[in-house]
Amino acid sequence: MLSNIFSIVRWAIVIILWPFVLLSNSHAGIGACDDLNAITETPQVNFELEIQPILTTHCVGCHSGPNPAAFLDLSVGYTDLVDVDSFEVSGFKRVEPGSISRSYLFIKINCSNQIFGNRMPLNGNPLNLIEQALIRDWIRQLLIFRNGFDD
Ligand code: HEC
Repeated sequence: MLSNIFSIVRWAIVIILWPFVLLSNSHAGIGACDDLNAITETPQVNFELEIQPILTTHCVGCHSGPNPAAFLDLSVGYTDLVDVDSFEVSGFKRVEPGSISRSYLFIKINCSNQIFGNRMPLNGNPLNLIEQALIRDWIRQLLIFRNGFDD
């Protein structure tokens, strides 16, 4: 009987603490990121065909023209993204080939809690999980493209 009570109390503690475990992401200040693990990798993601259309639909309204938000122009392919320092947070590249955790753009679209500012797209619904996963796969594959064959 007593051990039953203990086990109930133990489970209650586990259940109460679980959300905090989920929220305590590996990066300080970043949390509540969408889990994309269930979405399998799309091989050889093509920037022009698969990524630019996402940016064109959801982002270029603010990130283009003579005065793009955060000095980030998303209408010019990835020249303003790959290996370019983040304007907002020093120490991050906007896109670091091969690493989503060091790519500021990925954090901006994947997580509700940000190091600085808001989740993107600003004032819109988050990108769906398929779109987020495509961006994930593109960033991860950049290193392979760079070292192996050019895209
Ligand atoms: C309604 C306008 C608006 C839309 C739409 C928008 N952004 Fe932004 N974006 C901003 C503003 C304003 C900032 C700076 C403030 C902030 O971070 O909240 C910003 C900042 C950023 C930054 C930080 C840049 C840096 O170098 O530090 C990234 C990355 C970014 N946006 C990506 C995106 C992406 C990707 C999309 C589309 C999925 C998007 N944004 C859609 C307005 C917008």
